[in-house]
Amino acid sequence: MKTIQQLIKRVEEIEEMEALDRFANLVQKGISRIVPQESALKDLLSGTWLGRPLHPILTDAVIGAWASALLLDILGGKRAERAADQLVAIGNMAALPTIAAGLSDWAELWGAQQRLGSVHALGNATAFSFQTLSFWARRSGKRKRARLLSLTAMAIAGASAYLGGHLSFVKGVGVNQTAFEEWPQEWTPVIAEQDLAEDTLTPARADGVRIMLYRKGEQLYALSDRCSHRGCPLHQGQVNDLMLECSCHGSIFRVSDGGVVRGPATVPAPTYEVRYQDGKVEVRLTVR
Ligand code: FES
Repeated sequence: MKTIQQLIKRVEEIEEMEALDRFANLVQKGISRIVPQESALKDLLSGTWLGRPLHPILTDAVIGAWASALLLDILGGKRAERAADQLVAIGNMAALPTIAAGLSDWAELWGAQQRLGSVHALGNATAFSFQTLSFWARRSGKRKRARLLSLTAMAIAGASAYLGGHLSFVKGVGVNQTAFEEWPQEWTPVIAEQDLAEDTLTPARADGVRIMLYRKGEQLYALSDRCSHRGCPLHQGQVNDLMLECSCHGSIFRVSDGGVVRGPATVPAPTYEVRYQDGKVEVRLTVR
């Protein structure tokens, strides 16, 4: 228990390591040049096409292959050597797109999340380097050295995975930012009818939940005001031809049904049914 508390304390210390920021900012700028925000490559690496973040899915392939190789190294004996070598090679190959997707995600972070991501990335890069050396040691027949390198790589990758878990499950990076909103199921008044100007993204609250209203002619639209990507207020974005662009990282959602047209968001924006009633605008969650 004490060890766990110390571990958590170390992670909190990383969150405050401002010394990392300068270097991280420079690297992020470089990544953003290679993978521009509004590009097909960004959508590909974010997982927009898949409807789910890509990086965490790919990590399973890497860790699965490396962990299996390690088990064969330890328990498999002579007969399992070839399979262990192949698994290390598979893990190394899978690591390349995993690192690319992770760096693309990390380039959007700042502050404590950026610092945690920096150490996570450094850890993963080190683990990958050790596994690459292990692969070459295996090819040269230096079995003992190769096993030691793989074992070290897995220890580093394990610590790094802890940081990755902390980033997602404690800091909320990569999770759907609208997942815990308590959407009104019944018709709920949000603002007076005369306060809803045409062609203007209008923030409002429905039973405490942030929503965003939009009127085009007689047509009314209502979406969650929280971007599913990193939670930025969508009403601060821009709308063109019923396409709403988030001001933070440029994701585009269809105003009509919240669908993702462009990433890095992967999850649609929740939408509401909306109507005028007794001089008020009312909303309720769209039944999907
Ligand atoms: S918060 Fe990143 S695109 Fe909206």
